[in-house]
Amino acid sequence: MSVTQKEQIERPAAAIVMAAGFGTRMKSKTPKVLHQLAGRPLVYYPVQAALALGVPRVVLVVNPDTHEPIAEELARHFDRARLQFAIQQVPRGTGDAVSAGLRDLDVPDEQAVLILSGDTPLLTAADLEPLLGASESAPLRLLSFVVDEPRGYGRIVREEDGRVARITEDRDLKDERERAIREVNAGVYACRAGELRRALPALVPHNAQGEYYLTDIVAEIGARARVEALVSDARAFLGVNDRAELAACEALLHDRIRKRLARDGITIRGTPLIDDTVEVGPDATIEDGVRLRGKTRIGSSSTVDVGSVLTDAEVGEGVLIRPYTIIEKSRVGAGAVLGPFTHVRPGSEIGEEAHLGNFVETKQTKVGARAKANHLSYLGDADVGPGANIGAGTIVCNYDGFSKSRTKIGARTFVGSDCQLVAPVEIGSDVYVATGTTVTEDVPDGAFVIGRSRQTTKEGYAEALRVRLKAQKDAKAASSK
Ligand code: UD1
Ligand code: CA
Repeated sequence: MSVTQKEQIERPAAAIVMAAGFGTRMKSKTPKVLHQLAGRPLVYYPVQAALALGVPRVVLVVNPDTHEPIAEELARHFDRARLQFAIQQVPRGTGDAVSAGLRDLDVPDEQAVLILSGDTPLLTAADLEPLLGASESAPLRLLSFVVDEPRGYGRIVREEDGRVARITEDRDLKDERERAIREVNAGVYACRAGELRRALPALVPHNAQGEYYLTDIVAEIGARARVEALVSDARAFLGVNDRAELAACEALLHDRIRKRLARDGITIRGTPLIDDTVEVGPDATIEDGVRLRGKTRIGSSSTVDVGSVLTDAEVGEGVLIRPYTIIEKSRVGAGAVLGPFTHVRPGSEIGEEAHLGNFVETKQTKVGARAKANHLSYLGDADVGPGANIGAGTIVCNYDGFSKSRTKIGARTFVGSDCQLVAPVEIGSDVYVATGTTVTEDVPDGAFVIGRSRQTTKEGYAEALRVRLKAQKDAKAASSK
């Protein structure tokens, strides 16, 4: 048998992820395993670890209330064909949960099933590797770790010769010898399906919690075959039971993401918070206080400077995003320069080498290549042609209180400062709109348009005006005495 053939046989045929508990300590309307960490739901992580290990199918054990929301959310992150759901009607313990998961799983008796909890987000495929081979050398393998403070965990009870005899849950500890044990159960197992099918129906809820403990299969299977507990790194198995643990795990995940990106050739300064779903190209720079969320993509050699928040943003190569810029569900072309304080709202497409500066807001707007709007503008429902220049303070009036209309500005058109473009309106190419103009009618290509009242200058009149105004004020003060 070749090495690869051997590995294929040893790889678990399916994984069962237990996620039917109530998660009451989260104090939340949202099911525990759907709380988000770094842009993914909690249960995503163990499922992903199993799939990355090469397990072809994952069964999620859910309860009747959480089935639908969990299935819906996971469909956003995985190929549905690889997931299966099993409903545990009442959460009567982890042994009962695995029974529910196994019910519709047609894995042959001699193949292994991987068992995980839905609330361990730090687990990776590498942490599960030692479990491979469960079907060959020992029908049941599990992971353990050593801690100073074992409270809450099941203790691994070994015989004199090191053989695993049983697991005793925290609330069922018998004596001082068991209390002194520091080796605990990680809650991660690989077991031959046949042994599970034989051991699970034999479980009895004779314990402090009146539950069917999965951990009792250790003594059950150990009575006739070899059970192995492999000591692993405790950090991989941190669980989420409340929101303090959720925050701690998310911080560790964010740290991991920053390190991965740094190794991929991205400069990371300080502690930007980057979702697991985000992609960043090589040689990019992400500064402190930045948040990159959702399906955001940052092109190579781009910079996202301090405090910027990008959600589902597609940013091209060599883009400079200056501090405190906000971009949502929009695209930014290569070489563009944005910010500081630019707000790019959903449906915007910023062209290559375009510039948007301080307090410029766009929404459902296409800004052509090399076009510029550098100061204090609102561009909503607009098409700005390539090379156009939008002067400071120019506002596109896209809303009449009832409906929204579009504005078109042609290529190379110059719009002076403080103009109002009242939609719907079309301004052609190479147009020159004078400062302070209110445009209400379409303007043909190449035209000059001005719409403001003419200036009147009265020489020497300023002093006369001051004298008159002072006299008025004095008269008023005298009459009120
Ligand atoms: C379990 C282990 C313990 C181990 C610890 C590691 C048992 C009896 N104990 O304890 O030895 O040290 O994990 O973290 O297995 N669940 C269901 N249905 C149920 C009960 C639980 O799906 O009826 C799910 C929960 O949603 C959770 C997982 O199983 O994802 C583990 O259950 P939990 O109650 O958290 O077990 P622990 O007390 O942590
Ligand atoms: Ca737990």
